[in-house]
Amino acid sequence: MKVGFILVFLVLYVMLEQGTLLLQVKGDGDDDGFVKVRGVHLMLNGIPYYANGYNAYWLMYMASDPSERNKVSSCFQEATNHGLNLARTWAFSDGGYKPLQYSPGSYNEDMFLGLDFVISEARRYGTKLVLSLVNNYDNFGGKKQYVEWAKSEGQTIISEDDFYTNPVVKEYYKNHIKSVLTRRNNFTGVVYKDDPTIMAWELMNEIRCPSDQSGNTVQAWITEMASYLKSIDGNHLLEAGLEGFYGQSKQEYNPSFRVGTDFIANNQIPVIDFATVHSYPDQWLPGSSYEDQISFLDRWLNDHIQDAQNTIQKPVLFAEFGVSMTNISTTDSTLRDQFFNMVYSAIYSSASDGGAAVGGLFWQLLAQGMDSFRDGYEVPLDESSSTATLIAQESQKLNRIRMKSFPRVKISKQWNKAREVRSSRWKGGANERN
Ligand SMILES: *[C@@H]1O[C@H](CO)[C@@H](O)[C@H](O)[C@H]1NC(C)=O
Ligand SMILES: *[C@@H]1O[C@H](CO)[C@@H](O)[C@H](O)[C@H]1NC(C)=O
Repeated sequence: MKVGFILVFLVLYVMLEQGTLLLQVKGDGDDDGFVKVRGVHLMLNGIPYYANGYNAYWLMYMASDPSERNKVSSCFQEATNHGLNLARTWAFSDGGYKPLQYSPGSYNEDMFLGLDFVISEARRYGTKLVLSLVNNYDNFGGKKQYVEWAKSEGQTIISEDDFYTNPVVKEYYKNHIKSVLTRRNNFTGVVYKDDPTIMAWELMNEIRCPSDQSGNTVQAWITEMASYLKSIDGNHLLEAGLEGFYGQSKQEYNPSFRVGTDFIANNQIPVIDFATVHSYPDQWLPGSSYEDQISFLDRWLNDHIQDAQNTIQKPVLFAEFGVSMTNISTTDSTLRDQFFNMVYSAIYSSASDGGAAVGGLFWQLLAQGMDSFRDGYEVPLDESSSTATLIAQESQKLNRIRMKSFPRVKISKQWNKAREVRSSRWKGGANERN
């Protein structure tokens, strides 16, 4: 009898670790596979969801060439082997070389097929996605390309930051939101806005508006664009793409610069579902010692977790963090491991305590044969065994929190079912020995 119970428990445990049990928890309307927000937590199929993940901005770009698609698949494969369950990537490429959007409203089918492939592969590997819709920087077009398009249509443009206010540019951007969200995936037939593989949309990668330090411009833009996006898509979560820089009220917590955002106010906008933070002390505190950068990181992580929990009262995802190996004098990864360990510990200790941290995505993961994409921040899992071990351990630790918080009522439902099955077997006279 006891052996039977232990066996059932073990089977449940293994299924839960593998995520297959989630498919079996049915009946309360929470089981549609979309990640949702409840309080300061993310939920998936009625169970808290924690993300251990990575950035791979290049996925669509690579997948647009069918002969390179194996890089996307092997990236997901290798990530999954380390328990990574969330990838953040670009759903934009505006103008220039290999664009998704040639010009406002005119799309490149090869690129869209690439993005289709990325989403269908992510689904196959059980990976969720965060898809960003435009860049603050001019890599892959960005807000600069948008204002140039408007300028060539006769609009008066003074700076790139007119992206946030020019009515023609705002229409271009809304049209991009709509084009992406209503795209039907050619591999799966599922319209993007109905696809639970996508965990969240992001309005802009590293949204910044240095020309308005008050933060009002960004606040108004997020409010307008977030409402527009939600009017099309009620299924998915939405975040703004903030790095975490504070406004006036907490200026002293920033590095020595401000970028026209307000971590608190921007994330308090009701249609924003969760907060995001990026962490690059090596870029933000240039010339300072590694020790100073680490102590900045420590404070940066914990302040944002506290703010998310107490003031914003929404989950917080550490959507980018990393350290460049190019400026570290040694080639061994001890310093990077210390950095990763600090981020992972902050997330885990908040999460295991029921706090607002819901995960972290390191920058960046590449597939093999992508040496030209190395930027010093890449973590080649096959070459960096100590960092890869840390990453896999974080996945396991976050998974164990999910396991612990698995609702008791659901477990007992499964148990009862298993019991019924066994007792009916016993009644039939078979196998009464245990
Ligand atoms: C994929 O595209 C082709 C060509 O446009 C079309 O015939 C086919 O129906 C599409 N498949 C899906 C699943 O949307
Ligand atoms: C690396 O060092 C160079 C030269 O000192 C500097 O310009 C650059 O900003 C540094 N990069 C980082 C990420 O610290």
